Amino acid sequence: MTKFTVNNQPVEYLLDPETPLLWALRDASNLTGTKYGCGTGECGACIVDIDGAAVPSCRVSIAACEGRFVTTIEGLSRDRSHPVQQVFAALNVSQCGYCIPGMVMAAAVLLKRTPAPTDADIDAAITNICRCGIYPRLREAIRRAGR
Ligand code: FES
Repeated sequence: MTKFTVNNQPVEYLLDPETPLLWALRDASNLTGTKYGCGTGECGACIVDIDGAAVPSCRVSIAACEGRFVTTIEGLSRDRSHPVQQVFAALNVSQCGYCIPGMVMAAAVLLKRTPAPTDADIDAAITNICRCGIYPRLREAIRRAGR
């Protein structure tokens, strides 16, 4: 049994310890806001916050999460939208929307550490892939959310 914390709730998974966190979240916990894109750690659709770091959940086993604190898009903000989500909505950052949860999680982690990021900071931290090409709006939203 693997035990850790997801969105401030204790979880116990009776799954193969090598199960990727992404599939435990989606299939066992029904937290389907975390998306599957590539499965190889490249696209960023599956990014969650693990102990304050933006991590592709497709590349982390549940065994590696033992005793750690995981936050998904569903747990990012308790009562209302997180500032990043508010600015993303205000600027219509989303196009098809599939990559947005991972983008929001990566942006939230970045802004926790760097509240006023430069474009270079944003480009270094947000390596998520978006086939719609929302990158200019994404940079603007992250700059505004940090203000
Ligand atoms: Fe995890 Fe693409 S699905 S990085």
